[in-house]
Amino acid sequence: MNHQGVIFDLDGVLVTTDQYHYRGWKRLAEEEGIPFTREDNHRLRGVSRMESLEILLEKAGRVYSAVEKQELAERKNRYYVEFLQNLTPDDALPGARSLLEALKRRGFRLAVGSSSRNAPLIMKKVDLCGFFDAVADGNDITRSKPDPEVFLLAAERLGLKPAECVVVEDAEAGVVAARAAGMRCIGIGDPALVGAAAKVVGSVAEITLDTISQLECGNPPEVGISAAVVYQNEEQIVKG
Ligand code: BG6
Ligand code: MG
Repeated sequence: MNHQGVIFDLDGVLVTTDQYHYRGWKRLAEEEGIPFTREDNHRLRGVSRMESLEILLEKAGRVYSAVEKQELAERKNRYYVEFLQNLTPDDALPGARSLLEALKRRGFRLAVGSSSRNAPLIMKKVDLCGFFDAVADGNDITRSKPDPEVFLLAAERLGLKPAECVVVEDAEAGVVAARAAGMRCIGIGDPALVGAAAKVVGSVAEITLDTISQLECGNPPEVGISAAVVYQNEEQIVKG
């Protein structure tokens, strides 16, 4: 099956927003007296705002009501959106724009598949909208990564079958979501987090047209495999 589409995660793949997420959560955690480290922050990658809050609250000394949780999530988002105002086209990660240009020239259809409800604002500020034929983000979905919903929707909006799409991801939850969608995935960053991807690279700058075409080789992705099964399989592989 020839790959015809590439679906990009946004935060941490195309743009440098991860530090702003961290600073927003860190400020909230300090105000609430909850321990929160950069290590903790890794677990928030790719998952929705409310799920991120639940992870942060695992270390809270008390139980928060649903109304309080809503307020906490809104407060963190206010801090985050304040940071986002500083974004400019220079905040596209090195190599991102040239990869998007090369893929477009080669005739690939391109989409964003992000859990973020702020994706439209980020794409506008960083001037990325013109590259994409479709966007699926946190405003469109009911289940965030590791559920495959956002990637399946992105493929549908591109008019492509899942197996015709490659996903580029920096989050463990995102790699699991791509596999659960039946898509091959290029993982960016720490192999301990994204090692379940078909190919792991250090940054988006290392991805070339060859990286995508080489994915054609090897076993086809599992179609329709559930996120729970992908996790279970990974655990079995890790346990050896
Ligand atoms: C993802 C980030 O892209 O978006 C997560 O990797 C974040 O860390 C999620 O929690 C939701 O973002 P937002 O902008 O809707 O709060
Ligand atoms: Mg990401």
